[in-house]
Amino acid sequence: MDDQRNMRTITALVLRTEGYTVSEAATGQEALDLLTGNSVDVLLTDLKMEPMDGLTLLRRALEVQPRLQVIVMTAFGSIDSAVEAMRLGAYDYITKPFKDGVLRHRVELALERSRMKSELDLFADEFHQRHNMSALVGSSPAMRELKNRLLRVAQSDATVLIQGESGTGKELVARSLHTHSRRTSKPFVPVNCAAISESLLESELFGHAKGAFTGAVKARRGLFEEADGGTLFIDEVTETSPAFQSKLLRALQDGEVRRVGESTSVRVDVRIVAATNREIELEVREKRFRQDLYYRLNVVTLRVPPLRERLEDVHDLARHFLERANARNSRPKRLSGSAVAHLMDYSFPGNVRELENLVEQAAALAEGDELMPEDFPLRPQAQVSQGVGDLGTPRAPGGPVQTLAEVVDEAEKRAILQSLERNQKDLARVADELGVSSTTLWRKMKRIKLLETGPTGDPQGK
Ligand SMILES: Nc1ncnc2c1ncn2[C@@H]1O[C@H](COP(=O)(O)OP(=O)(O)OP(=O)(O)O)[C@@H](O)[C@H]1O
Ligand SMILES: [Mg+2]
Repeated sequence: MDDQRNMRTITALVLRTEGYTVSEAATGQEALDLLTGNSVDVLLTDLKMEPMDGLTLLRRALEVQPRLQVIVMTAFGSIDSAVEAMRLGAYDYITKPFKDGVLRHRVELALERSRMKSELDLFADEFHQRHNMSALVGSSPAMRELKNRLLRVAQSDATVLIQGESGTGKELVARSLHTHSRRTSKPFVPVNCAAISESLLESELFGHAKGAFTGAVKARRGLFEEADGGTLFIDEVTETSPAFQSKLLRALQDGEVRRVGESTSVRVDVRIVAATNREIELEVREKRFRQDLYYRLNVVTLRVPPLRERLEDVHDLARHFLERANARNSRPKRLSGSAVAHLMDYSFPGNVRELENLVEQAAALAEGDELMPEDFPLRPQAQVSQGVGDLGTPRAPGGPVQTLAEVVDEAEKRAILQSLERNQKDLARVADELGVSSTTLWRKMKRIKLLETGPTGDPQGK
């Protein structure tokens, strides 16, 4: 609040009369102490204060409570600092001297906005829970687009073909499709065509009659029938023979299946989701995959991008896997900023699964409480970019095209993380070292989501 005692007392009195709970602080530091541990909706502060000025208080306060609505009080004629404050995230400014009515009105508006914001957050949480979208970690543009498309497609019964390299999360996407569909209370039945021999696969999927073949001592329902009303996930669908593919095609066309050794068919109501990590178009061209089945499966395609095309997700994913490992391990570990930078320098030929394994291993084997780069031994040949300096190096031969903005964001994130580590998270020294103002540093950190994050590389973490 204001450093001039009278003004502060009067302002507080006006607001208390309105029925608000008001706490007063004589200095910026006192205000920050108040904000830490107390939930506050609105902060009113003067800009000219000693020793901590209002802009510094504003920045720190938003770090402590990102939802806080800040109103700065400025002297007449100092519009520049008011503009700067708004740019830094203040909600409003009010010019001194002000009438009681103006004060009441502005505070009321700020509170209204604070209420709206927390309702929106609640709504977003609920939305995510209901849709279980948090299971698919990652907020890169590519992942966001995938999730949006997934949600839309899930509502329909359309057959979906999921394409993506090994370890990108295709199975997770398939499960997610089922969860968000109207079939969610019915079974999700996965079958991995690559893991079962051709002859077994047929009886697995379609079932068999008693005595249909040696060893078929009892009649058995197939996975199609098991999945009735739900979703059948046919994984690695390209790993099948043309003979099997025509049987599958027939089942899909007719919506009925015939058990091996049986003469009559049963109707099934099954939604088909198939996946492959091969270039299926190529398989079709080379006649290893039936074109008619391809058309039948490929009503909607979901492409899961390789991790190297969305390195922004590495941070969130690593944290996610570490949290999971921490829940199991006795000694919780933290991720260092330099470890994240190290990981973001890698091209992940094994995609998310490789990252998952790396984090689990590091969590189990690392000596210290903070995971460092050396706790993540990466496959050397895949390491393509050597750090902040080489912005222009493509990540992998024939690799993805990144927009300039993405390249810059990534490089900035790496540089900031490394500098944070070198300077024990002292933001002033980081800004100094990187040759930017602390405001610029703060803004960049906010944009690339290094602020308001959990334990990882969190500059204001303990
Ligand atoms: N976006 C994600 N968020 C959280 N976990 C993920 C994500 N993507 C993948 N995973 C995890 O990574 C691992 C590999 O994912 P998944 O098995 O779905 O990949 P896949 O594409 O089916 O791989 P493959 O082609 O080798 O079968 C799983 O443990 C999965 O839970
Ligand atoms: Mg899979």
